[in-house]
Amino acid sequence: MTDTSVPTLELNNRTRIPQLGFGVFRVDPDHTAEVAGNALEVGYRHIDTAAGYRNEAGVGEAVRASGIPRSDLWITTKLANGDQDRPEDAFQASLDALGLDYVDLYLIHWPLHSKGVYPQVWKTLTAIAESGRAKSIGVSNFQIEHLERVIAETGVTPAVNQVELHVEFQQRELRTFHAEHGIVTEAWYPLGGGSISEAPELQRIADSHGKSVAQVVLRWHMQVGNIAIPKSNHRERMVENLDIFDFELTWDDMQAIAALDKGEAGRRGTHPLKMG
Ligand SMILES: NC(=O)c1ccc[n+]([C@@H]2O[C@H](COP(=O)([O-])OP(=O)(O)OC[C@H]3O[C@@H](n4cnc5c(N)ncnc54)[C@H](OP(=O)(O)O)[C@@H]3O)[C@@H](O)[C@H]2O)c1
Repeated sequence: MTDTSVPTLELNNRTRIPQLGFGVFRVDPDHTAEVAGNALEVGYRHIDTAAGYRNEAGVGEAVRASGIPRSDLWITTKLANGDQDRPEDAFQASLDALGLDYVDLYLIHWPLHSKGVYPQVWKTLTAIAESGRAKSIGVSNFQIEHLERVIAETGVTPAVNQVELHVEFQQRELRTFHAEHGIVTEAWYPLGGGSISEAPELQRIADSHGKSVAQVVLRWHMQVGNIAIPKSNHRERMVENLDIFDFELTWDDMQAIAALDKGEAGRRGTHPLKMG
């Protein structure tokens, strides 16, 4: 993996993931090749998709059209909830849709706590990783109890847990567990999922650095050690969201942003135990 400006984080299998990527949730499948193509053109080298987004084919098309060497790209996709009974077939279907012979990261999209087959699904992912068709494997929307169970039952620790995480929902307890177990935290809704926090503190910090609130929020993710995968349909915002490596938030800035955490009240998306 090479990349010009975006730092990388080391995963528990010693591969390195670009810390800032581009998410394509809710990007229209008919326009994904164009949107993801724009993201690659402006400099993103990490794209986050999912079988459930129905736009893996567009991501694959953008990758091929870009001419960027495959080894310079990081592609993540996820197992759809409806496919937990057939993870191996679903994984192959994702590779086929992407038109790739491997992905960099394959995630279980949701634990589906009541269904309760996620430890078995995780075993299948470990076999997929051993086959080399997913360079790294991880999970998404897992809570501590789910992480503890897959680690206890398989001895294999997920490289990544991709969870809702933004300035109003900072997931401190989960992040601490991740740090203790060498799991990298990946933030979905990094910008809050469509409406960025309007806390005046953020605007003040942004003004003090000559940056936008979105840039301050993404820079905060970088400085706390999260992977962030903001989505935008707009090329100028793609550029803006990538332009966060020429300034640094101060200790005071970081403290002020830490104080914006609302805990559980800040959650905007679906609670993991309510999915499935
Ligand atoms: N694992 C999971 O369960 C899960 C769940 C949700 C999301 N995800 C992943 O996380 C990625 C990011 O989440 P998300 O797309 O839902 O939310 P997000 O990245 O936090 O926010 C995206 C929204 O912010 C707007 N935006 C982007 N850049 C902006 C800027 N510089 N200034 C102002 N507004 C800006 C976008 O609008 P425009 O597009 O109009 O610019 C869009 O409405 C997804 O694409 C997906 O890959 C994963």
